This record gives sequence, C-alpha cells and structure tokens, in this order.
Amino acid sequence: MEKKRASWSGQLAFVLAAAASAIGLGNLWRFPYLAAQYGGGMFILVYLCLVVTFGFTLMLTEIAIGRKTQQSQLTAYSKLHGAWGFIGLLGTVIPVLITPYYCVIGGWVLYYLKAYALMAFTGAAPMGEAAVNSGAFFSGFISAPFAPFGYGMLFILACAGVILLGVKNGIEKSNLVMMPVLFLMAVAISLYVVFMPGAGDGLKYYLVPNMDCLRDSAGSFSLALLAKTILGAMGQMFYSLSLAMGIMITYGSYMRKEDSIEKCVRRIEIFDTLIAVIAGLMIIPVVYLFAVKTGTPVKEAMNAGPGLMFITLPKVFASLGAFGPWIGLMFFLLVTFAAATSAISLFEACVASVCDVLHIERKSATFFTTALILFLASFSALGYGAWGDVKLFGMQFLDFFDFITNSALMPIVAAATCVFVGYVLTPQSVIDEVECSGRPMKSKGLYVVMVKYVAPVLVVALLVSEICRALGIGGWKI
Ligand code: PFF
Repeated sequence: MEKKRASWSGQLAFVLAAAASAIGLGNLWRFPYLAAQYGGGMFILVYLCLVVTFGFTLMLTEIAIGRKTQQSQLTAYSKLHGAWGFIGLLGTVIPVLITPYYCVIGGWVLYYLKAYALMAFTGAAPMGEAAVNSGAFFSGFISAPFAPFGYGMLFILACAGVILLGVKNGIEKSNLVMMPVLFLMAVAISLYVVFMPGAGDGLKYYLVPNMDCLRDSAGSFSLALLAKTILGAMGQMFYSLSLAMGIMITYGSYMRKEDSIEKCVRRIEIFDTLIAVIAGLMIIPVVYLFAVKTGTPVKEAMNAGPGLMFITLPKVFASLGAFGPWIGLMFFLLVTFAAATSAISLFEACVASVCDVLHIERKSATFFTTALILFLASFSALGYGAWGDVKLFGMQFLDFFDFITNSALMPIVAAATCVFVGYVLTPQSVIDEVECSGRPMKSKGLYVVMVKYVAPVLVVALLVSEICRALGIGGWKI
C-alpha cells in the first residue's frame, strides 16, 4: 500500500519553509558584494525585474511539478514523461554535491559564532587583534587538520536531526524558531548601521544607481558590461531563490492542493529579496566606512568570496569597540540560522529523493544520506588544509563543487526544464496545476512567454557566460 505523503500544515508553513530555504548565505554575503560591484541601486533594479519575471516562472514551475507528481526531483520528471526522466537524475546530483560543501561553510560560521560568543560573554579574545587584522584567524582555521571537518560534521548532524523529525515536526518547527529570530536580528543590525554616524556615503554607494559600472575604460557606454550585470544578477537569482536544486520540487510535493502556488511564489520572492536588501544595509555602509578609514579602495574592501564575511567583517566588528563582539555575535547567529535553514532544505531534497526511489522510510534514508554527505564533506573540509595540494581543474574541492553545480549543472537543468515544460508537457498543464486550488492564475500570459521563449534563451546565455568565466575567456573574471 502507498504510504501517505507528508504535508505542510498550511500555506503559511510552506511559504516560511521555502523562504527559509531561499534565505541563506546567498542573501547575506553574495548579494551585498555583487550589488556593490555592479552599480548599487542599478543591480538591485535589474535583480528585481528578473525575480518577478524569470525567477517567478522557474519557481512556479518547480513547485507545480512537485505538487502535481507528489514526488521529489529524482522521480518527478520520469513520472511526467519517461524520456525526460534524465532531468531528475541530473538534477539530483546538484543537492548531493551542494549540501556537503554548504555544510562545511556552515561549520566555518559555527566556529565564528563560538568565537564571538566567547568574546561577548567572557571578554576572551580568541581571534586576537593581530589575527583579525591579517585574516590569520580564518586561514588558520580552514587549513587546520581536523577542525573544519569537526565543525562541518556538527552542522551536518544538527541538520540531520531536524530532517529525522520529519516535515511538520522537524522542518516546520525549526523554521518557526529560526526565521523570526533571523528577521529581527537583521532588522536590528541594519538599524544600528544605518544610524551610525557617517553611514550616509555607504548607503548612497549601495542604493543609488551608479551607471559608471556600465562605462568602459574610455568612459563610453558598454553593452558588454550591461550584459555582465544582467548575467551577474541572473546567477544570483538562481542561487538565492534555491532554483534548479530540486528543493522547490520536493517542498512543492508536500503542498496541499487547496493552496495557491502563485501567491506563495510572490511571497517567497518578497521575503527573499527583502532580506537580501537588508543584508546590504547591514554590510555595505560599515565596510565602506572601514575602507575610507583605513585607506583601502572601496571595491577591494567589498571583495568577493568568503573574504568579505570571514575576514573583512571581523575587522570591521573589531573597529566598533565595545559593541563589536555583540554585533559580531548577533551577525553570526543570524548567518548560522540562515545557513542552517537552507542546508536543511538541501538535505531534505536529497533525503526525499532517496525515499522516493528506494521506497524506504525517512529514518533509513536520513542515515544513508547523512553518511554520504559526511563522506563528501570531508573533501571540502580538508581541501584547504591537509589536502591543499590536490586540485581539480585548478580548483580546491569546495570551489570545484561550487563551480560544477552553480555554473554548469543548474543552468543545464533549468534550461532542460523550460524546454520540457514549454514544448513537451505544455505550459497549460502547469497552469492547470496552479489553478486546481480553485483560483484563476493571474500571470498566465507572462508565464507562457517566459517559459517558452525568454527563460530558455536567458539560461543558455548564463551557461555560456559561466563557462567563459571559468575558462577566463573575454575578460569575464568577476
Ligand atoms: N538559496 C540559499 C542561499 O541563498 O544561500 C541556498 C543555496 C543556494 C544553497 C545556492 C546552495 C547554493 F549553491
């Protein structure tokens, strides 16, 4: 006999879970530095346009596929059309590769959380002034023989514990605690920053559209730079909305038929974008002030990658005097929750696929998946230390997993999904699924045009640009 599938307790629980998945390191760390790099307010505007059109289309499609098939990604596509089952297979590789390295980064965050808790509550200085200034605290940690794996393992086991408790008792309840705390802390820190003396210039830098980033070295408008900005925003949109990772299919499969997919998607987009914009308010003005104070070029201070969160921000917190450890503690607690809720959703996408394909219980599937994730995480955890000499195509393990998933597999899966839905399954069957809640779908026209014509072209452009960036063709290096 078929076991009854788990379900969310209501529409709000679903929105909260999907928003919790979407709001993660992408919002807190990737969005601010991309915005700073691509003309502040202009990047935000481009990003918003993409979210309400392109992001809307992809997210709605994934959730509808999940709810229609009542399956996770691995088996959903083959249930719809045998020959297109390969998308599910390819797509399942994505969360399996992302979850381990995302949890390793979660472990880094936990380590910083512990350091700031010690500094705030006991007055101890585990980071040390000199270590903060040189970034040695960070490099010392990630290259240590066991610590990065130990903290990553802690993070993985905590997520596994939540998954083991199930959809309602685990994922839903943990979100009910973590999400409000995350939101309140983000608002509190951003208010502190916005009202800091001298924050005005940084705010302007972040929010006012700056067209200079569209001008080439000779000062004339460059179409290539505009394309780069749009593609940068598009990549961020994928990352931030947790698209093409199987998460929205899985979460959609737990959704009740009477709930409105369209309304839910709009709400998820609002939450996700709001937190991304607030993250910029927390980070950009302080980093800007810090750059001016220390004479560092602003662009350099906003530098990409883990450096901003794990090296620059601790320097900034250290410069805030007695408040520093407390702001740091709040910030890293917020990041821990954001990373945990996203990691839980990635984990669930893997566990649900194992359950659906092997027809086994959640408990056994969670044990199996946890073991696999721990194994894969060891590569990323040790890749900067003990296995530092091992490189895959010139990349450390963590960077390689990130590249394979975000730059290659995700655009491929998204493009294949659009072609499949646009021309094989037909957009009407997605619209029918959306409308089975009893309400007509409002953005039908937009949806059909996007899924058939615009989205596939944009995704292929993203894929090509990512490959060029990886190969260093055409000056694509960000
Ligand atoms: N959407 C989440 C974030 O913005 O962090 C989760 C996530 C995105 C995880 C992309 C992993 C990833 F590669």
